Amino acid sequence: MAILPIRITGDPVLHQPALPVTRFDDDLRTLVADMFETMAAAPGVGLAGPQVGVPLRLFVYNYSPDDGGERRGVAINPELWITPTPTGEADELAESEGCLSVPGERFPLRRAERALLRAVDLDGKSFEIEAAGWFARIFQHEFDHLDGVLYVDRLDFLNARRATKAIVKSGWGKPGNSWLPGVDDLEG
Ligand code: NI
Repeated sequence: MAILPIRITGDPVLHQPALPVTRFDDDLRTLVADMFETMAAAPGVGLAGPQVGVPLRLFVYNYSPDDGGERRGVAINPELWITPTPTGEADELAESEGCLSVPGERFPLRRAERALLRAVDLDGKSFEIEAAGWFARIFQHEFDHLDGVLYVDRLDFLNARRATKAIVKSGWGKPGNSWLPGVDDLEG
């Protein structure tokens, strides 16, 4: 297993739609194992293929709610259905989101309260998960990555401006930037 470099916003692979997984082979198993290791090292609650430079439709997640019951898994070729996204201003404390591809930053964003994920696992076997609250948020965030969308692309005007400033200040927003968990001192 290996920790993989995480691409930073501006890298083209993060901003284009990913392709369906068609080969369920040992290479895919290795990739997923490496993604779990990378997500743990970052640390993060989710990591999508494009974030490690692989333009395929899969993500891993690791959700540990305060009340216990860790949810950890891989979703390959996922579909996602969500309830309507609430309108109004996002709450800075309760709804701030981060992304390992915009490391160290957090901005508030409204998300649907509930989501239904349908995907296949490493054996190509189909499964469904109903999620609510923060777990549903993780699914929405990771699913977006597969369509080339980052959460900062969804921010309201004022937060988008804050995000753009932070990205420019860090020298990101152009191809070729990445960071390596455990080596580079960045936090998503
Ligand atoms: Ni992300």
